[in-house]
Amino acid sequence: MTATVHVDLPGRAYDILIGPGVLEEAGSRIAAMSRRKHVCIITDENVAKLHLGALQAALQTSGLTSDALALPAGEATKCWAELERATEWLLAQKVERDDVVIAFGGGVIGDLAGFAAAILRRGVRFVQIPTSLLAQVDSSVGGKTGINSPSGKNLIGAFHQPSLVLADTALLGTLTQRDFLAGYGEVVKYGLLGDAAFFDWLEKQGSAMRTGDMDARVRAVTRSCEMKADIVQRDETEQGDRALLNLGHTFCHALEAATGYSDRLLHGEGVAIGCALAFELSARLGLCSQEDPSRVRAHLRDMGMKVDIADIPGDLPDAQTLLDLMGQDKKVQDGKLRFILARGIGEAFITSDVPHDAVLSVLQDALARHQS
Ligand code: GLY
Repeated sequence: MTATVHVDLPGRAYDILIGPGVLEEAGSRIAAMSRRKHVCIITDENVAKLHLGALQAALQTSGLTSDALALPAGEATKCWAELERATEWLLAQKVERDDVVIAFGGGVIGDLAGFAAAILRRGVRFVQIPTSLLAQVDSSVGGKTGINSPSGKNLIGAFHQPSLVLADTALLGTLTQRDFLAGYGEVVKYGLLGDAAFFDWLEKQGSAMRTGDMDARVRAVTRSCEMKADIVQRDETEQGDRALLNLGHTFCHALEAATGYSDRLLHGEGVAIGCALAFELSARLGLCSQEDPSRVRAHLRDMGMKVDIADIPGDLPDAQTLLDLMGQDKKVQDGKLRFILARGIGEAFITSDVPHDAVLSVLQDALARHQS
């Protein structure tokens, strides 16, 4: 039940191994990549408690010793201070240009450790071992690394591809239901942006996947990684098509900023709400049928997910403030907001040609539901 997706970038090609138990391959794969018999792992405190022993045992079976730095769990870790801590620790561990660093955790750890690897000695190789669904289907693949700035999310970073990704789907079993479903927001995104048949399949298999069906989990992670690999191969540095992966993200980033990047709204929850709003906007602009946003919302609702701005607890700013927050997004080009809209399920496209009034009215209506 193991799948392999190959990311075919010239000079930087790598495999993504997906399936229950692929963690056990960490030792043999990494031993084959590096002469050094010692590996440095960057992880977080929660993942360390649950899974670090298994990773270190897997490395040991191939004669690799390891040391780990466990950073605090949570988005606040993606900051200059923790990046400095991680890079100084790697230097103290005498990591050299030929060595391999392991990023072992969710999106926060993958982004931070990947960025540390990108800048350490002008770049060392790293292996992503993603432990959350969101990291397995999105952030561990494609080489976006970085940290947050007080000015915004992910504003400091580099493209640095991993040398290998091990997506062990058995590790998903320790996620809370909320974290699993947040990651599922990114899975749905793939169907919505480019594969209507995958969205059909998710409508039928999503609840089995949620309750632990391993075949369904492997298949969903594999299809998501195939789609991401295909897009990244076409457009590694987001000059064009890669922006399709940002379906739902313009709305999401404004909502995350409005809720202070707090526990009120997880990133994947914001992506799901953002996808529903992007379809709503597409329907209002006459690009897709009215049934499409209804179908998106119905599936998210069936999965027990946040679907609408109304599902976000606490106060929110007004529609104009949300629109202004969208304007601070790093996807703005020449002052114009770039949206990913859709001509139907599986048919997303990129446009800067969206009337602000239409966005404002989608937000005003959603906020009215929030207050009612
Ligand atoms: N998460 C979007 C991307 O990797 O481009």
